[in-house]
Parts: sequence; structure tokens; C-alpha cells
Amino acid sequence: MSPAVFIDALQNELQHTQYGQHPPELYDPIRYIMNLGGKRMRPLLTLMATYLFTDDWRKAVRPALGVEVFHNFTLMHDDIMDQAPLRRGQLTVHEKWNGNIAILSGDVMLVNAYQLLLNIESDKLAPALARFSRTAAEVCEGQQMDMNFETRWDVTEAEYIDMIRLKTSVLLGYALELGGLIAGADEETTRHLYEGGMNIGVGFQLKDDLLDVYGDPTKFGKQVGGDIIANKKTFLLIEALQQAKGSVKDELTDWLTRTDFDKGEKVQAVTSIYDQLGIRQLTEARINDYFTRGFANFDQVKADSDRKNVLIQFARQLVERES
Ligand code: IPE
Ligand code: IPE
Ligand code: MG
Ligand code: MG
Ligand code: MG
Repeated sequence: MSPAVFIDALQNELQHTQYGQHPPELYDPIRYIMNLGGKRMRPLLTLMATYLFTDDWRKAVRPALGVEVFHNFTLMHDDIMDQAPLRRGQLTVHEKWNGNIAILSGDVMLVNAYQLLLNIESDKLAPALARFSRTAAEVCEGQQMDMNFETRWDVTEAEYIDMIRLKTSVLLGYALELGGLIAGADEETTRHLYEGGMNIGVGFQLKDDLLDVYGDPTKFGKQVGGDIIANKKTFLLIEALQQAKGSVKDELTDWLTRTDFDKGEKVQAVTSIYDQLGIRQLTEARINDYFTRGFANFDQVKADSDRKNVLIQFARQLVERES
């Protein structure tokens, strides 16, 4: 099975999904963000996980889209919080409409996500929704920690990893766990899938932080340097703060504490400090570590090896991704 078959199934279902009609200011932004594309990684993970254990993977398509709608809701609100101008190469919802519209459309998306998740067989519905609700709360916890960290200077690497496990990894873990659950896999198996998703999720967010600095603006689809502008405590900045000494440390601290600055100049200056300290290579090594751990978790999953390879190959290309 090629991922293209899963992508087609998702795309086809997306075209038939109704979010609501009136008032258009509430629902148009949902169609807008959902149609901007994106990698569709989370629903693909769900379908690939279902396919590990059953040919009847199509029963996971709607619940998988529920996870994607939830993800897009978090992006809509995240872009308000991060004051991000661009998403997937287009204007963010709060820029194209306004902040209130992005808040309320996002709220309805959370409801839509639950509606899509209701399409799970009744004997699996309660555990799937219970785990989803916990996951959704954890994403909010991670997002609040991310915001709290913007104004702190002593964030440790361990705190950072905790934060990204919550804001990002738990949803990748859940996407895989859900696929296993829908297919009727046992608890040990769904646990390995979840843990694999958690580890890959950490690698994935590290890569996102890396691309935010070193991404190609024509491919990345988001504003390059946004994390530097907002003093986000990314892995890159935490490492730089730890490693910088003397005049380099003073220069870094100066940029981080300035209230009045030219955004482009700040991004260029901090990036050049990262370059001097070899932060890029360090981050790449860490990304590889976490993906390797994730693949070790997948090794523990007892399933057909060809089917497992579909999942592993898909995860592998996330390490090299440019958007
Ligand atoms: C962006 O997620 C938010 C993060 C968790 C880094 P993706 O990189 O999966 O975004 P899309 O859906 O492909 O646009
Ligand atoms: C956000 O992390 C993760 C979410 C839960 C939405 P980022 O703020 O780094 O995501 P991007 O870079 O805007 O996609
Ligand atoms: Mg953001
Ligand atoms: Mg954010
Ligand atoms: Mg980011």
C-alpha cells in the first residue's frame, strides 16, 4: 500500500466534510485553513496504524480527520498567540479576518473534531474519546508553558522537552494510538505506538524549531525567524544560552532584552550566533536521536513487516522535510 492511497481517501472525505454554513464569518475560515493543505501527517499516521492490523482501514478515515481538524484548530489559535503572519504560505486567519473570528472559528473546529471522532464503533468510542480529551488538555498545557517560557531566561532543556511533549508529541502519539485502537489492537501494542509517536513528536518539534531559523522561506510556508523575534525558548536558544561565553553571550543577551529592534536585524544577529556555536549540527543530532528512539518503539509492535515499513518510511522522510 502506498501513502498516496491514504492521502486520496483523506482528501476525498475532506471534500465531503461539512463544517457549517451560517454565519459565513464563522465557517469560511475553517474551510480556508483546512484547504490550505499541510502535510496531513496526523491522520496519515492514524490510517497507517489502523492498516497495520486490518484491511478495513477506511473505517478510520473520519476519526482520523477529526484529529486533523483538531490540529488545525490548535494552529489557528497558536497563530494568534504567536502573532504569526503566515501559515502554509498564505495569510493566517487572524490576519485575513481578525482575532475574534480566529478565536471563535477555532472553537467550532474543536466541536467539529469531536463530531468526526464520533464515527468510531461504539465499543471503542468511550476509550477513544477519553484519551482524546486528555490529549487535547495536554496540548493546551504545553501551549501555556510555551507562552510562559517566552519571558523566562532560565528554561532548562528538560523543561523544554516536557513542554514540547505536551504541545506537539502527545497528538502524534494519540494519532497512532487511535489507529491501533480502531483496529482492535491490544493495549501493549497501542502503548508502543503511542510511545513511538511521542518520540517522533519530539524529533518533529525539534525539526520545526530548526526550520524556523534555517528553513527556506519559499518552502517553509511560515515566517522564518518568528521564534527568534518572540524570544521562544526553543532547543536552539536554550543551547545557545548555555554555550555562549564572553562577548557572544553579551550580544545574545542584548538582543533578547531589547524592546525596540528591527526584526530582520535581530533574526540575522541571533542566527549568526547560532552559526558560531554550531547549534544547527547539535539540533540535527538530537532530531536523529529521537527519531531513532521512535523507530525502536515501532520495532516492538507486532505487525506485518511490509505494513510497518509504510509507517517507518513515512516517518523517515519527516527528518528530511523542508516544510
Ligand atoms: C505544525 O504542524 C505545528 C507543529 C506541531 C510544529 P505541522 O508541521 O504538522 O503543520 P502542517 O499541518 O503540515 O501544516
Ligand atoms: C505549536 O508549536 C504547536 C501547536 C500545538 C500548535 P509552534 O508554534 O512552533 O508551531 P508553528 O511553528 O507555529 O507551526
Ligand atoms: Mg506558532
Ligand atoms: Mg506556538
Ligand atoms: Mg514552530
